[in-house]
Amino acid sequence: LIEAVGAREILDSRGNPTVEVEVLLEDGTVQRAAVPSGASTGAFEAYELRDGDKSRYSGKGVLKAVAAVIDELGPAIEGVDASEQRLVDEILIETDGTDNKSRTGANAILGVSLAVAKAAADSADLPLFRYLGGPNAHVLPVPLFNVINGGEHADNGIDFQEFFLAPIGAETYADSLRWGTETYHVLKGELKAAGFATGLGDEGGFAPDLPSNREGLDFLMKAIEKAGFTPGTDIAVGLDVAATEFFKDGVYTVEGKPWSADKLTDYFADLVANYPIVTIEDALAEDDWDAWKALTEKIGKSVQLVGDDLFVTNPSRLQQGIDLGVANALLVKVNQIGTLSETLDAVALATSNGYRSMMSHRSGETEDTTIADLAVAVNCGQIKTGAPARSERVAKYNQLLRIEEELGDAAVFAGRGAFPRYKG
Ligand code: PGA
Ligand code: ZN
Repeated sequence: LIEAVGAREILDSRGNPTVEVEVLLEDGTVQRAAVPSGASTGAFEAYELRDGDKSRYSGKGVLKAVAAVIDELGPAIEGVDASEQRLVDEILIETDGTDNKSRTGANAILGVSLAVAKAAADSADLPLFRYLGGPNAHVLPVPLFNVINGGEHADNGIDFQEFFLAPIGAETYADSLRWGTETYHVLKGELKAAGFATGLGDEGGFAPDLPSNREGLDFLMKAIEKAGFTPGTDIAVGLDVAATEFFKDGVYTVEGKPWSADKLTDYFADLVANYPIVTIEDALAEDDWDAWKALTEKIGKSVQLVGDDLFVTNPSRLQQGIDLGVANALLVKVNQIGTLSETLDAVALATSNGYRSMMSHRSGETEDTTIADLAVAVNCGQIKTGAPARSERVAKYNQLLRIEEELGDAAVFAGRGAFPRYKG
């Protein structure tokens, strides 16, 4: 039974405050969870409560959310069995009482929801992935390493937010981590040799001031080959375009010019024809449903099209997409929806409609590694949690090493089967 719930304000990887929650069970178990925070957030995400008091952290403090945990959310679940996750999450949602979790804050609610799950797992003496996923949790995800950062995550001129390496040809997760990391280091050398800066963006990828998006893909190709791998077969690539960020009044501003959705769609079709791209996220803006449908019809058979800002891990937004035939995969961010139960609902809805799911961090992260366990718990076969650098990113990749070790012979690396393009 849940005996007490505490919370504090800590810092995330960008030096912004965030919520950490601690849950104490009657049997003496204590577990904590920390909440991530996005920069290129979708308009339909659950509400992240910040103090707005300019005298502290430029208004970004989270003392109100911390107080909501201590004064309201915690007391509401005291005495409840920690293994009753759905009941706990329902009580949290009801206590808040708003549609988008804006009164107590989705950051407050998520911290409690995750800390309760971790405490229940610990109390049951099970690893988190096993507790959450049951006896069938066994698929190690393909890591999508965001090795070039643009958009809102870097102060460079690149429009697209993320350029991924996806080591799909490895036999094990451990090998995929090594392949991606070796290529990351080669990429640094290539950028340096070409005279570009090799400082890092928010997610640990390089943030060179490249003249075009295509140049980013060219650098990935060069690095993959120079590291001794075959593009496509060993290591594929992917993009998070985060197109909402450069969409305004019906126009996409790409490389300084106004583009229509049609032009952008043709551009993606051309990129897919010329590079071993397995996944494109937020290729179009969060409300451009008609253009999304046309894009899905055009290239959705051969490439994974992921909805992030589009679906915001929200079952009702996802259902809208399913009904319209828009995209074919869901990006899963626990703080977009705000409870573990609703996150699992979104993944289940995706799976039952033939949509894939990619587990995801946020650009503002902490040392909390819950999403690594969650990826294995739902067997989704894909995770993006930044470059293989910076401890808030690497913490998740390292946790997956431990899980693979723990599973031993039962572990299966998702590999090529994770994506439609190179399946089999
Ligand atoms: P965010 O970016 O965490 O800043 O929203 C990640 C993403 O767009 O996938
Ligand atoms: Zn995204």
